[in-house]
Amino acid sequence: MTISTERLTIRHPKISDSLALNSAIVESISELRKYMSWANEIPTISDTEKNIENAIKLIESNIDIQFLIFTKDNDLIGSSGLHEINWQVKKAEIGYWVRTTKTGNGYITEAVNAITNYGINELGLKRIEIMCSGSNTKSRRIPEKLGFTLEGILKRHRINSDGTFDDTVFYAKVI
Ligand SMILES: CC(C)(COP(=O)(O)OP(=O)(O)OC[C@H]1O[C@@H](n2cnc3c(N)ncnc32)[C@H](O)[C@@H]1OP(=O)(O)O)[C@@H](O)C(=O)NCCC(=O)NCCS
Repeated sequence: MTISTERLTIRHPKISDSLALNSAIVESISELRKYMSWANEIPTISDTEKNIENAIKLIESNIDIQFLIFTKDNDLIGSSGLHEINWQVKKAEIGYWVRTTKTGNGYITEAVNAITNYGINELGLKRIEIMCSGSNTKSRRIPEKLGFTLEGILKRHRINSDGTFDDTVFYAKVI
C-alpha cells in the first residue's frame, strides 16, 4: 500500500528500511526527545529493526498503522501513523515526526493531510485526532493548517523530557 502526494511517497515500513530509519532517528534525537518519550534512548540499528518487526505485526493485525515518509528521490524524511485505532468508533490518532535536516519544508503537513484522507476515504474512519504538548508550537501548526478543530486543552496534563509540566492540546477532524 502506497500513498502518493505531490512531493512524497508514504508507505508501510519494511525490515530493509532499518538502516535509513535508524540514521534519521539518531540525527534527530535531540528534537525528538523533547516531546516523544520513545526517543529517550538512542536506538541501535538492531533496536530499530525490532521496532519495525513489531510495527509490521501491528499493521498485519490492524491495531496500529505506521508509515514511513520518503521524498520522490527515496530519501526517508520522517514517520507518521494511525495509532490507537478504534474500529468500532471508527477513530484513530495521528502521530508524526520529521528528520531534523528536513524541517520547514511543509513535508509533514503534506503527509498528515494525505494520511488523514487515507484514513477517512480508504479505511472509513470518522474521527481523526491529533494530540500535542501545548508548548509544541511547530506540531500544533500542522492540525491548525489542515483545518482540524481545537476541541480542548487539558491543563498541566503531561511532563516533557526536560521535566517541565505542560498542557495537552486536542485537535480532531470529525466527518
Ligand atoms: C512537529 C514537526 C513534525 C514539524 O515539522 P515542520 O517541518 O515544522 O512541519 P512541516 O513539514 O509541516 O513544515 C512546516 C513549515 O514548512 C514551511 N514550508 C516551506 N516550504 C513549504 C511548502 N512547500 N509547503 C508548505 N510549507 C512549507 C512553512 O513555512 C511551514 O512553517 P509554518 O507552519 O510556520 O508556516 C517537527 O518539528 C518534529 O518532528 N518535531 C519533533 C517531533 C514532534 O514533536 N512530533 C509531534 C508530536 S505531537
